[in-house]
Amino acid sequence: MTQGDWTRDTPAPGLVVPQPRKGFRYGSEAFWLVGLATEDGVPATALDLGTGSGIMALLLARLGANVEAVDVRPEWRAGWDVAVAESALAGSVDFRTADVRDVAVGPSVDCVVSNPPFFAAGSGPAPQDGWRSTARFESTATVGAFVGVACGRLSPVGSAWFVVPVEREGDLLAAVPTGFHAARVVRVGVRRVIVELRKGMGEAAVEVVDDRGDRVVGWYAGATR
Ligand SMILES: C[S@@+](CC[C@H](N)C(=O)[O-])C[C@H]1O[C@@H](n2cnc3c(N)ncnc32)[C@H](O)[C@@H]1O
Repeated sequence: MTQGDWTRDTPAPGLVVPQPRKGFRYGSEAFWLVGLATEDGVPATALDLGTGSGIMALLLARLGANVEAVDVRPEWRAGWDVAVAESALAGSVDFRTADVRDVAVGPSVDCVVSNPPFFAAGSGPAPQDGWRSTARFESTATVGAFVGVACGRLSPVGSAWFVVPVEREGDLLAAVPTGFHAARVVRVGVRRVIVELRKGMGEAAVEVVDDRGDRVVGWYAGATR
């Protein structure tokens, strides 16, 4: 890690998260997802698919979860090593450089979190840089592949939490495998939608949330408590 190329952010007390100065950097949605996923308690085990800087995995581990976190881009490793060495974590994170499809088989987890690449391949001009491009555009795995892996790793009582651009809600819901359902669909502002997937059958509870309102402030406070 070249010091000038990375920033060293402290998004919660005791947490250090290096990020590339010019590459993909975490946004508010990482905090929303962790806040929602821990509203009813911190899961014992979690899986973060497409972890990037590791922000969601590290927030969960800081609260006590034992987390497996994967990302296909090897550039993230330097930041993960610093984060694990310098952060105060009540739980743990096992960071792995791997394709999401390579973790389809593994131990069941209580919680999956994922902020997958935003756009379908070929749906717009991709950055020249492969590291940045893989964060924004699907490459080896579609949002549907992320959903399939998440559901396959969920324990019977677990929840998989996804945040996607509103334009991708249909692709996400279309990929939900038989035997699973969307339990909650939370539209946050005009740009993002959060979906909770669970085992079994059921109707989705649909909510519309102001992206500057008390609810999102509460999720942020919960993620960084
Ligand atoms: C939108 S970024 C989210 C990063 C981080 N979770 C966050 O919220 O800041 C999507 C991440 O998915 C990773 N990714 C893309 N395709 C992947 C794949 N096939 N397997 C694993 N990770 C992948 C990218 O490298 C990128 O870090």
